[in-house]
Formats: sequence, structure tokens, C-alpha cells
Amino acid sequence: MAKEKQIFYCKECGYESAKWLGQCPGCRSWNTFVEERITVGASKHTSIKKDAVAPTSILRVTTADESRIKTGITELDRVLGGGIVKGSLVLVGGDPGIGKSTILLQMCRNLVHSGTEILYISGEESLSQIKMRAERIGTFEKDMMLLCDNDMDNIGTAIQKSNAAVVVIDSIQTMVVDEISSAPGTVTQVREVTARLMQLAKQQEVAIFIVGHVTKEGTVAGPRTLEHMVDSVLYFEGDRNNGFRILRGVKNRFGSTNEIGVFTMTEKGLEEVDNPSLVMLNGRPQGVSGSVVVSSIEGTRPILVELQALVSQTNFNMPRRTSVGVDYNRVNLIMAVMEKRAGLNLWGFDAYVNIAGGMRISDPAIDLGIACAIASSMKNIPISDETMIIGEIGLAGEIRGATNIMQRVKEAAKMGFSRCVIPKSNYDKNMKELGIEIVCVASLVEALEVIFN
Ligand code: TYD
Ligand code: MG
Repeated sequence: MAKEKQIFYCKECGYESAKWLGQCPGCRSWNTFVEERITVGASKHTSIKKDAVAPTSILRVTTADESRIKTGITELDRVLGGGIVKGSLVLVGGDPGIGKSTILLQMCRNLVHSGTEILYISGEESLSQIKMRAERIGTFEKDMMLLCDNDMDNIGTAIQKSNAAVVVIDSIQTMVVDEISSAPGTVTQVREVTARLMQLAKQQEVAIFIVGHVTKEGTVAGPRTLEHMVDSVLYFEGDRNNGFRILRGVKNRFGSTNEIGVFTMTEKGLEEVDNPSLVMLNGRPQGVSGSVVVSSIEGTRPILVELQALVSQTNFNMPRRTSVGVDYNRVNLIMAVMEKRAGLNLWGFDAYVNIAGGMRISDPAIDLGIACAIASSMKNIPISDETMIIGEIGLAGEIRGATNIMQRVKEAAKMGFSRCVIPKSNYDKNMKELGIEIVCVASLVEALEVIFN
């Protein structure tokens, strides 16, 4: 007999517990447990026992030709690692309204145009709404199948019956498995729906794109469990209010991660940005203190971005420190090094650090840029507009080498910068040929001297 049972799940990591807990033992986050009712006893996972499979020697395994389907959107192909892999399950996450449905519909249009069959399943929009969006992004010259449903049984049948090579599910939070009594979007539902889609993807050799809305805390409901299950995870970043959209690959079983694709949202859908540095540096203030250009390696590309700092006398006992786009603790660490090793008295000042353009950067090579921007704002001395700064700061105040230095310097030269401050250990004599002045620094003190003299 099927019996209903109450279970608590962590929204962050999917940790399961029989009772409510304040802190999740799995991921240590607070207040993330939600109650869900599940039916037990009913055959939950009726996996058919297959014939036992014997282990195989690796030398005998032949690799199937991993053919990829090009999406016709270069930036998307890049993030996917060169195109869509057959039978893969891809999660596209992001805030509501950021452009997930738009980019997938644009991808579908390109794909049908090149002869790929598509099944677009939406649980959020009606047929006419999808059509309206499709008209906005341009004409569909070939046919594409649409289905508006949210029942997984129907969807499963539709996928099995169709010849589609690519299926889009918009969104995972609206899909329901009938046998599970909890509401759509809950951890149990999302997990089960994903598990079924995974099976379908592998059985039918069809690539499935799942749209997942991100909750306020910045996570898709049951996200970690979802991330483990799917083959690739792409997240849309960027400020909804400005035009940039950054598509970041955070997991990819079939390619490198951390690739980004840069887009702008226009009247006619998302448009690719060929030269992200140009867009990121657009509108940069000239001759203003606290602004500096740094370089970040995103995947395989160097991207130049503007970093801004504002330092002002504090009115409190504890100075305020805020960072947007860079790690808060990293900024505190850099400020501590500046105080201790370079003798700057920052304790009486509030400091705000921001990456212009809504990008998030975790590349440590922007450390020296952060320090210089803070020093520039504090001294109220602008840094030359033609200078780009690269280097990681160590606790002893030393400037440590950065990865892919040649690429970064080349990008700076290409973008018209005349001077590049780099870590001494990174110097390469081939840099002379790039037609850009190279200044090598070994310590923070040396770097500040070079820049502010
Ligand atoms: P959408 O793809 O519906 O977001 P999501 O699926 O991630 O929730 O994007 C909707 C936003 O994009 C909405 O604010 C309108 C805007 N938009 C444009 O600016 N131009 C367009 O051509 C389209 C289709 C949408
Ligand atoms: Mg949508």
C-alpha cells in the first residue's frame, strides 16, 4: 500500500532529513529546509534488472565519434564546448527575465534552419505567446514542433514519438510527475523530472535543454542535486537593467568550463558580442581617480574590464567595505596587505569596489588592479587611461605571476593600451614585439611607486 510520508529537504543541496533542521549538515547553510510529502511504498523506481554486465578492458573500448551540432550562435557554441553533444542534458539557469527562453528559441530557429528537428516544450507560455516571441526574434523559415504541457508522462511520450534531435524544456519548475504529490518546483519534483529527462536523453540520444529559474538566494530549487545530475550547467549573469548578458559554463562534461559568452539584449532578441573588452570598457570615465583597467581570463579568452574603487572618510567606528563583482574577503585581504606592507592608513576610510558592466571575476590576477584603484581613490590621483594592470598580491606584499600573460598583454595592445604593468616573474622578451611598454614590478610598494609617479 502506498503511504504518504513527510520529509524535509535542504533547498540548497537536497539533503534529506526526517525532521526539520535549522542548519543543513550537508552544506552548512541556515534555514534552507522545506517540508515535502512523498508517497512511499508505491513502486518509486522500478528499474528493470538487466543482464549482468561484465567489466571491460579500457584498451578495447572504442570511442564513438562525438559529433556536435552547431547552434549557429558562436558564443553559445563556445560555452557548450563546441556545440551540442547528442544525448546530453544541459541546464540553463538564471534569474527570471534574463533571457533564457529567448536564447533557446534563437538557438532553435538556427537549428531548424540547418535541418535539425526540434521539440520545444513550454509549461510557462501558451502557443501564441511563444509565437509572439518567435516573431520578435525573426522569422522561422522552417517548421518546429511546439508543445505546451507540464505533465511528465505526456512529455515523455511526446519525446519518444518525435524524431527531434534537440528538445527544450521551459522550465523545470513547472513540470510535474503525477505520482509525486508535492507541488511543482519542489525538490522532489525537480529531481524526479530531471532523472526522467536524463533517462530519455540517454535512451533516445536526444539533447535536452532544461531551463531553471534561480531563486532569490541565487540557486535553482534543489540546485546542487540538479547540477550533479545534468551533463552541463550554464548560468546567465548580468544586470537585468543594463543590456549585457553573460552566459557562463559552470559545469561541462564535454568541454572546458568557465567559458563565457557575452550578449546584449536588443529589440530583436540577444545579439552576440564579438569583442567583449570593447563593450566592457565602453563609457569608461577618463582622468577620474579610482578607475583602472584589469584583465581577466574567462575560459580561454582574456577580457579587459574596468574596475572602480571609491574610498571616503568613514563616519562610523567600523569602516564599511563593499564589493560588487569581486570577492569581499579578497578585497579585505588586499586592503590589509596595503596597510601592513605599503603603509597606507586605510582604517579610517570606507571602501567600495565595483566591476563595471555587472561581471563577476574570480581571477586573482586582478588583485593589483584592486589595490591600485583603492590607492588612486584614496590619494585622489587618477591612473593613466592607457595603463593596464596585472598581478596577484601575496600576503608579504609581493606581486605574483599571472597565468596566460602573453594573451593578456596582447589583448591590451590590441585594445590600444600603451603601458602594461605586469609581475616581474612573468616577463617574456617576446613582449617587446607587441609595441606596448612593459613595466615589471616585484612588490606592491614598487607597483604603487611606478603608477603614482
Ligand atoms: P526571457 O527570455 O523571457 O527571460 P527568461 O526566460 O529568462 O525568464 O526574456 C525576457 C526579457 O527579455 C524581457 O524583459 C523582454 C526582453 N526581450 C527583449 O528585450 N527583446 C526581445 O527580443 C525579447 C524576445 C525579449
Ligand atoms: Mg522564460
